[in-house]
Amino acid sequence: MPVAKHDSTKKALSASVRKGATVLFQGDCRVLLAAMKDETIDLTITSPPYCIGKAYESESTTTADFIKTQKEVLPEVVRVTRQGGSICWQTGYHVTDGEAFPLDFAIYEILKDIPGVHLRNRIIWSFGHGLNSTTRFSGRHEVVLWFTKGEHRFNLDTIRVPQKYPGKRHYKGENKGMLSGNPLGKNPGDVWEMPNVNANHIEKTDHPCQFPVALAQRFVRALCPIDGIVFDPFMGSGSSGVAAELEKRRFLGSEIFPNYMTLALNRLDLAKRGRIQVRELDKPIYVPDPNSAVAKRPEHFTTEVQ
Ligand SMILES: C[S@@+](CC[C@H](N)C(=O)[O-])C[C@H]1O[C@@H](n2cnc3c(N)ncnc32)[C@H](O)[C@@H]1O
Repeated sequence: MPVAKHDSTKKALSASVRKGATVLFQGDCRVLLAAMKDETIDLTITSPPYCIGKAYESESTTTADFIKTQKEVLPEVVRVTRQGGSICWQTGYHVTDGEAFPLDFAIYEILKDIPGVHLRNRIIWSFGHGLNSTTRFSGRHEVVLWFTKGEHRFNLDTIRVPQKYPGKRHYKGENKGMLSGNPLGKNPGDVWEMPNVNANHIEKTDHPCQFPVALAQRFVRALCPIDGIVFDPFMGSGSSGVAAELEKRRFLGSEIFPNYMTLALNRLDLAKRGRIQVRELDKPIYVPDPNSAVAKRPEHFTTEVQ
């Protein structure tokens, strides 16, 4: 099925969503949101611009800019979310003159005041690589806040991960001898280790700030019914859309810059044709073997603490 592309009209947009097509909107998400009907989206998964001077952020670079935009966008996202639907907002830090501001604090402040919206999890997304700092601990995590509108669904069985000790059994009590953990696997918890999309990552495109498809995929499986609609207002290269497509959900996304829109269109098209390359959700993290180290600690490195 070809990916539909609409650059504006309300009529074309709502018609496409009704038909179950994937719809990518090139333009400001606030324009798209204004054209959307109430309570039509099952899951929003997005990563807004952090106002940290990336290529797509030339005009706004302060936390005040960030908060202003989010105060316009978030209430609209709540309005278009169905009862029982979910909103997942992925952010990191905004750093000014060495001082870090956790952007999820601002998102929480905005959403907690909207009646009927509830925070369910603050998920830590951790990764092993990134910029190395010499003045503070290197940043190795970002955050996803998961909110729901009203009573929510959570399909745990679709996202279970292997038990650490699958054969472990109760050793006393009425369940003695029975498996102590669920044989289908355990809840993945609220700390997710997934490699970030750096230059060597299989999913890397020309977008400077992708999140991995697997991050969105876990939310799609757990929080969006089959055939439900996943929405990403700040779509970038379309990673949420790829996740939705792989999981057989519909997708609606907006992206303000035409070059990123083109990336998203291409990736969605590849996903629809089964040709997209992604790092699988359950692929284990590579753990280096300390016994096969090739580097030797230089002699001028001392273990003595002055
Ligand atoms: C952090 S990136 C999202 C990256 C995305 N999660 C991915 O995996 O590729 C934020 C994106 O929002 C886009 N953007 C910024 N302001 C926007 C707006 N008002 N409406 C729609 N898109 C916007 C930027 O161009 C950028 O591509």
